[in-house]
Amino acid sequence: MADVFRSRLLADKSAIITGGGSGINFAIAKRFAAHGASVALIGRTKEKLDSAAEEIRKTGVKASGHSADVRDYDALDAAIKAARDEHGPIDLVVCGAAGNFPAPALGMSANGFKAVIDIDLLGTFNTCRAVFEHLRRPGASIINISAMQAFTPMPLQAHVCAAKAGVDMLTKCLAIEWGVQGVRVNSIAPGAVDDTEGMRRLAPTPEIREQFTKGVPLRRFATKDEIADLALFLSSDGARFITGTVVVCDGGQSLAGLGVNVMAAVQPRV
Ligand code: COA
Repeated sequence: MADVFRSRLLADKSAIITGGGSGINFAIAKRFAAHGASVALIGRTKEKLDSAAEEIRKTGVKASGHSADVRDYDALDAAIKAARDEHGPIDLVVCGAAGNFPAPALGMSANGFKAVIDIDLLGTFNTCRAVFEHLRRPGASIINISAMQAFTPMPLQAHVCAAKAGVDMLTKCLAIEWGVQGVRVNSIAPGAVDDTEGMRRLAPTPEIREQFTKGVPLRRFATKDEIADLALFLSSDGARFITGTVVVCDGGQSLAGLGVNVMAAVQPRV
């Protein structure tokens, strides 16, 4: 779906997106806005949020930035209340704030491990917990941004694997508890996504990037827009009976195993 494509699919809806100032989450914010939703961006860096919100406002859609660290419940709660005051009851939530650094388990301190657990897992819980009373119910949708690390063990990623596995289980538990009130909760698990802070950290050289690509049956990274398209679908009425799922968007990478690399090396004629 081209970035310029606009519709009224999310007309009169309001969204809160954590980590919304950049990367995949900003792409989702722009996609929601292009389809009629007003958006509140929450993140740590005020300047980043302000310029992201300004970019969206230039398209004629209401957008605001509210700074808070998702690890700080009180600050996050205050930011969510401010967003609700400005945008009204919340229809769509994306819990996208995340942290990552590649390190072996023996190369990270307890605090390093905890930093990622706190941002990814506790931050997702905090956002869901704090936003619940402001959700328009029935009808609200929550999307938690997970990762392939939730179900595919990966070296240098023990903290992220543990955190994202927790995020997906949280998604399922909340889907059961909140379904009765008409709140849907799903996870999106992207694979390698181009032009993101995460992939700059995990695939910092062309050689490592190529190795990653060889493990993807579709032989490329995702674009941020492709993840945004999936978020748009899951947030729309088209997905009104989908809850508690982890939707994988990874070009088939998590199916892979060694076979995909062999295919890339042998280049069989088909
Ligand atoms: N290897 C090992 N340990 C590391 C590390 C690395 N590359 N980077 C940070 N740490 C450790 C720190 O040493 C610290 O532990 P210590 O107190 O025992 O020394 C701990 O992690 C917390 O670091 P700090 O920089 O104080 O935390 P922060 O809250 O400011 O930052 C991070 C959180 C570490 C996740 C940081 O990478 C971050 O802010 N990331 C956000 C952006 C991002 O990761 N985007 C990609 C999302 S997929």
